[in-house]
Amino acid sequence: MIIPLANRLQKVEEYYFSKKLQEIRKMNAAGLDVINLGIGSPDMPPAPQVVDALSHSAGQPQNHGYQPYRGTAELRLAISQWYQQVYGVVLDTDRQILPLIGSKEGIFHISMAFLNPGDKVLIPDPGYPGYAGTTKLVGAVPVSYPLDPANNWQPDWEFLDSIDTDQVRIMWINYPHMPTGALASQQTFARLVRWCENKRILLCHDNPYSLILNPQQPLSLHAIPGALKVGLELNSLSKGHQMAGWRVGMLTGNSAYIDAVVQVKSNIDSGMFKGIQDAAIEALQVAPTWHQAQDGVYKHRRALVQQLMDLIGCRYETNTAGLFVWGKIPEGQEVVSFADRILQEARVFIVPGLVFGDQGNQYVRASLCVHETRIKEAINRIKKLKNTIEA
Ligand SMILES: Cc1ncc(COP(=O)(O)O)c(C=O)c1O
Repeated sequence: MIIPLANRLQKVEEYYFSKKLQEIRKMNAAGLDVINLGIGSPDMPPAPQVVDALSHSAGQPQNHGYQPYRGTAELRLAISQWYQQVYGVVLDTDRQILPLIGSKEGIFHISMAFLNPGDKVLIPDPGYPGYAGTTKLVGAVPVSYPLDPANNWQPDWEFLDSIDTDQVRIMWINYPHMPTGALASQQTFARLVRWCENKRILLCHDNPYSLILNPQQPLSLHAIPGALKVGLELNSLSKGHQMAGWRVGMLTGNSAYIDAVVQVKSNIDSGMFKGIQDAAIEALQVAPTWHQAQDGVYKHRRALVQQLMDLIGCRYETNTAGLFVWGKIPEGQEVVSFADRILQEARVFIVPGLVFGDQGNQYVRASLCVHETRIKEAINRIKKLKNTIEA
């Protein structure tokens, strides 16, 4: 390199998974055949009509140019109809909806739009690592707030009420929660809306898991009275529609917030390929029976992953949503060496919960995005190892 790195890169490390997956690729290249239960990237394809829509749209000569910064009107309409159907929430199609190239980019746009260097951001612990990384990239300061395991991983109100929030501008929340799978109650959302309104904090809800194994009616933050004034919601087609690699997400909320995000986004990308937008419309219109069929597969896999957790002595909740099982490791174990031992000795990768924050230091996360034959193989490998782990 002939120039130094930007200062902001001194504050962020390469994304954990980006590093770990490199290690796994090396193990695989050495012939070790690692079973990767680490990543929440759905392994099943979207509904067939979604792929047909992409290929039809890609065949149209006029569809290859730049697209509108706010997405096509047809996609915004499909999103608005989907919000009404799934969450019972009515949004203004033109002003309160912004299609995104994945929700991860939305986390960055929101941070760019509303944070100045030195501002503070409340980040759930445990939680998705993207919130803290992005916060640091824009020169703001992540402040972890604990979720309470004794209260189904809802925010620890005693902690929140004890901190100085003068410099806090954004609070991230995410339910169904990753990595724990915990669900939020309407009461939790309502209390968060009131708290953020009083403190003048922008409440950002990240909602990509509401369509997967959800034992409750899917819940949007916007269903809470007053939420539109203080809150934004990210959503995604990555998980529930099995389109992670397509990069389609959305931001919904008050038009003033959306306009600010467009101000950032329009300086970064130049719209989303029309074929992907047309396919996303199909995906949003897929029948509930399609989602039920996917859930059937995930349910079966979850029972197997729970069996695997039993074998390694981990305890887990069963009334959860999303693509993971979150297991509490046996007393006296250190989580990174626990997970590393399983990787090295059984060639099964599960994620040490510390990656998601200090509160994850007694937990591991295993994904359901793996074919059942591979999960069964992982179980067999662990069975062979079981005696040594317990020793
Ligand atoms: C909680 C959470 N938010 C956001 C994302 C990013 O999703 P997308 O593919 O829409 O960028 C993920 C992906 O794993 C996630 O788990």
